[in-house]
Amino acid sequence: MSEDAINICWRAPSNIALIKYWGKKDHQLPINSSLSITLESSSTTTSLSFRKRSTKGKKIHLKYYFHDQQHLIFEEKIERLLDDLCAEMPFLTDFELDFHSSNNFPHSTGIASSASSMCTLALCLVSMEELVSRKKLTEDDFFRRASFIARLGSGSASRSVFGGIVTWGYSPFISHSSDEYATPFPIQKESRLNQLWDLILIVSTKEKAVTSTSGHLMMNDHPYREGRKIQAESNFRRMVEAIGEDDFQTIAAIAENEALSLHALLMTSSPDGLLLQSNTLHLIEEIKRFRTGTGLELFFTIDAGPNLHLIYLEEHRERVLSFVKNSLLRFCEDGQWIDDKIGSGPVRL
Ligand code: DP6
Repeated sequence: MSEDAINICWRAPSNIALIKYWGKKDHQLPINSSLSITLESSSTTTSLSFRKRSTKGKKIHLKYYFHDQQHLIFEEKIERLLDDLCAEMPFLTDFELDFHSSNNFPHSTGIASSASSMCTLALCLVSMEELVSRKKLTEDDFFRRASFIARLGSGSASRSVFGGIVTWGYSPFISHSSDEYATPFPIQKESRLNQLWDLILIVSTKEKAVTSTSGHLMMNDHPYREGRKIQAESNFRRMVEAIGEDDFQTIAAIAENEALSLHALLMTSSPDGLLLQSNTLHLIEEIKRFRTGTGLELFFTIDAGPNLHLIYLEEHRERVLSFVKNSLLRFCEDGQWIDDKIGSGPVRL
């Protein structure tokens, strides 16, 4: 391998879960299967430049730049992660590693930036591994390994490795599924689900009081933990069936049940995590009223924060956009929203 620095660059999208991953077991494994839609636009781009060190070090040597500024908090976090990853990727300490990362969506807007950023990090590392080991993986093995590595950084990142609809967690209903990595969920070419749009309504851009990682921890001794596992597995199975049958109404009902269940779990955690805001509730009421009045196919979902994702079919786009502008943006911070849709997954640049 040459002494010059080698560059690798990946762009990866975020994703929005319809069946929520909430609660962990062992080392970054989920207590239930989850299912998400990979987004198209909201993404992170990360480049990794690596150069052989003159002497073999014992510790990781890295610099981490976010939007061209060295970011010491992220740097420390990534350093800890890569230290742990050395058991999997022992070559990491032989190189100086420079990461440059940027998001194309604002921070704290209800889009999981850890999903897209950990996904790009994992893709860069697995590309590096291929070069260093001079072993080319098959496409399937490459993305499966990237999903496995991404999961160790952030659970939801394991799903961003694939486009379309993606599951993570072992389920008897999904072939090749595993707790260790995500699995793409094929949808029929003619399915209307290939034309899902996600309009993200930004209720607040303030840092969340409860991070996802601390929320997962609160599930460890949550009084409803066992009940949640049963509910999630049942919702997952019904969601998989509904997607197979292109049954939008059932998909919508389960997704909304999941979003509200996630917040019910947060509110009944100790200490409580009340993340919904009054404007989130106004949005829910308006969306339900609009759906009842028009019969349009749309639903909401919410991650661990106050912002709301309005998911709808492309054929309703015009009517949804005018509904949003006329009735929903007044509940958003400075009228902010993001226009996104189902996407085809990461791209090597
Ligand atoms: C509510 O993947 O952010 O968005 O594994 O600790 O990084 P860590 O957690 P994270 O949790 C995501 C939780 C969620 C639901 C989901 O995306 O499935």
